[in-house]
Amino acid sequence: MKHLFRKGKNEQRPVLLLLHGTGGTEEDLLPLAQIVDPDASVLSVRGNVLENGMPRFFRRLAEGVFDEQDLIERTEELYTFIGEAADEYGFDRHNVVAIGYSNGANIAGSLLFHYGDALKGAILHHPMVPRRGVSLPSLAGKQVFIAAGENDPMCRPEESQELEQLLQGAGASVTLHWENRGHQLTREEVDAAALWYRRQF
Ligand code: MLT
Repeated sequence: MKHLFRKGKNEQRPVLLLLHGTGGTEEDLLPLAQIVDPDASVLSVRGNVLENGMPRFFRRLAEGVFDEQDLIERTEELYTFIGEAADEYGFDRHNVVAIGYSNGANIAGSLLFHYGDALKGAILHHPMVPRRGVSLPSLAGKQVFIAAGENDPMCRPEESQELEQLLQGAGASVTLHWENRGHQLTREEVDAAALWYRRQF
């Protein structure tokens, strides 16, 4: 997958896996990594799917309606890619924390829904429930931060709460943070994620 890797000053810190929103690139979330953990290594990936020229991590049938089979396959592709990148760049694939926004948060959520060992934790900005009616792997010991907007038309507040409950039901520790905003990524929620991150890792 097209990506960039930047080795951090402190290789003991988790590797931050950056996953952009629809139409983004692997450059987009680099400022977030700087705020959350400036000493960490960064693996930032570009989604392999193009929707009218806009990179995404999996196909959708309409806004908010996912192509489930493609989601499953792309999630596996990303999971495999993280392992390959760990071998190539010499980091521990069990020491990875994802930071995703929107479509990137949805594929990060899907990694958690499908693989018990994909991520150590995740910061999910405006995620949706990636799949329903499936049993999740054990997520005991996983730390998840969800940033949600009270007026987010794409992920309604009920959906953020549903995601929190599904992840908690699988054993994850989940912090749900609210902003009185819509779907946009705000500086306030990034600062809140950074504070949370420093307490967890
Ligand atoms: C998705 O397709 O992942 C969601 O609709 C969010 C987005 O627009 O990327």
